[in-house]
Amino acid sequence: MVKIAVGSDHGGFELKQALADHLRNAGHEVTDLGTNSSDSVDYPDFGVKVGEAVANGTADAGVAVCGSGIGIAMAANKVSGVRAANIYDVTSARLSREHNNANVACFGERLVGAQTAQDALDVWLATDFEAGGRHERRVAQLNNL
Ligand code: RB5
Repeated sequence: MVKIAVGSDHGGFELKQALADHLRNAGHEVTDLGTNSSDSVDYPDFGVKVGEAVANGTADAGVAVCGSGIGIAMAANKVSGVRAANIYDVTSARLSREHNNANVACFGERLVGAQTAQDALDVWLATDFEAGGRHERRVAQLNNL
């Protein structure tokens, strides 16, 4: 079981709910940081909340959703220690873990269907970072920026 913080703006609300249900059904401990409706809110607030939960260790990993996945990834990546990646499919999910050790998975509800997002998230959670060698060196460089 993994502790996962989830969050979205209004544009990602429906997909965030679906992914949170999917994670709970798989036995993960989910902390939902909002938003809690389709009323308009600002994605930076929720990207930072998810990022901070991961950075401070409250969560092992984060899932952040907005309309495109782009703005909320930008916000999460402002938090030191966060490596948020935009995920579109199982390949981007796998590579973001193997090469970049991504700790926040970001999805765009307006770009990626719910089934594709669920499948990608399953792969993302199941894939380990390729520690040692060039990927570890490059992620260390990222962490020092
Ligand atoms: C909200 O309309 C939309 O801009 C937001 O969900 C996201 O796509 C931003 O990157």
